Amino acid sequence: MYIRSLELRDFRSWPELKVELEPGITIFIGRNGFGKTNIVEAIGYLAHLSSHRVSADAPLVRANATDSRISAVAVNQGRELAAHLLIKPHAANQGQINRTRVKSPRELLGVIKTVLFAPEDLALVRGEPAERRRYLDDIIATRRPRMAGVKADYDKVLKQRNALLKTATIPLRRGYGTDEGAAALATLDTWDGQLARLGSEVMAARFALVQELSSQVHDAYQTIAPESRPAAVNYKTTIDQGLSQFPGFDAGIIEATLLTELAAKRQREIERGMSLVGPHRDDLELHLGGQPAKGFASHGETWSFALSMRIAEFNLLRSDGTDPILILDDVFSELDAGRREKLVVIARDAEQVIITAAVSDDLPANLADAITARHTVTVRDTDDGRISLLDEQPETQP
Ligand SMILES: Nc1ncnc2c1ncn2[C@@H]1O[C@H](COP(=O)(O)OP(=O)(O)O)[C@@H](O)[C@H]1O
Ligand SMILES: [Mg+2]
Repeated sequence: MYIRSLELRDFRSWPELKVELEPGITIFIGRNGFGKTNIVEAIGYLAHLSSHRVSADAPLVRANATDSRISAVAVNQGRELAAHLLIKPHAANQGQINRTRVKSPRELLGVIKTVLFAPEDLALVRGEPAERRRYLDDIIATRRPRMAGVKADYDKVLKQRNALLKTATIPLRRGYGTDEGAAALATLDTWDGQLARLGSEVMAARFALVQELSSQVHDAYQTIAPESRPAAVNYKTTIDQGLSQFPGFDAGIIEATLLTELAAKRQREIERGMSLVGPHRDDLELHLGGQPAKGFASHGETWSFALSMRIAEFNLLRSDGTDPILILDDVFSELDAGRREKLVVIARDAEQVIITAAVSDDLPANLADAITARHTVTVRDTDDGRISLLDEQPETQP
């Protein structure tokens, strides 16, 4: 698929951006801090309903503005869909598809599919498990939008269950001996049931995804870093480790295992005042040779691993039938010659690629001849603060 037109209003440093895009390679060039990443962040937000840089919406809205708009027309095998999102930092966001308001912005998931590779991806390897869970859940949501709703429901249940464990510590400790304790435990039972039901769906989807991804990551890494040791990924759960040994495991088995584990850990959960069982405690383990990548991988290996995970994601989405839009945010300057070449091969073959770079020199020579469109990002200082501009000469400063 490709994006035919992109419009932003009051998104980050952009009061207004209107740009027509084409299939092939489009590049946005501009100095650091001028607003290039803001553009691809907006596209990524439309695709995933979250930013790769911040977890809250407020920083996305331009300073002094009340809300942000992101609109894009996507062309998928000849069929056009217009996606439109209104981001309100202090209220629910609103989505539209082809000018019709949708019940939840989540209905936009899957309309635009992107794979974004950015410097922040080093955190996939070095960062906390939450980064890697997000990687998995984003891919799942793009391929199976319904699962985003399941995950959101899970997060809500988890939040309420944690609140109960925190606020009802005393009655929960007293147990069934008191009316208050019995009531709190009954509420906890209800949350347990919901956590297990929703959590098992989340986990089953992740298990299945990791099974598909593992050979893709292994092969991508081998291609990028043939001199390095083999890369492997596997899903690590806090519940019965044996579970991961069953390929084709179903949500029912996982749900039962979660319930057993919740019962076994109940006392500890009450003592600690938090939920210790469920997909929010899981991780995607990354290995190089026999060692965990985190803490052992060199800087170059870390880049290769992160890139392999993005290439695997790209190939997986492509195998579903349509090319996702490949976005490369300021990454060429970070990669050595060998890795650049590998990335160029993929970029030249993808339906649409959007690249940002500070200077043209950062781009590999064999990419230059494949570029279909080139835009410059500049800034202007106004009474309303510094704003980003596309394809305009900056005003000469007095
Ligand atoms: N909410 C916002 N309102 C106005 N400007 C913002 C906002 N968020 C970020 N910016 C500005 O955007 C700029 C960074 O843009 P970015 O796209 O990351 O730059 P780069 O071109 O280096 O990728 C910074 O100058 C920052 O001040
Ligand atoms: Mg940037």
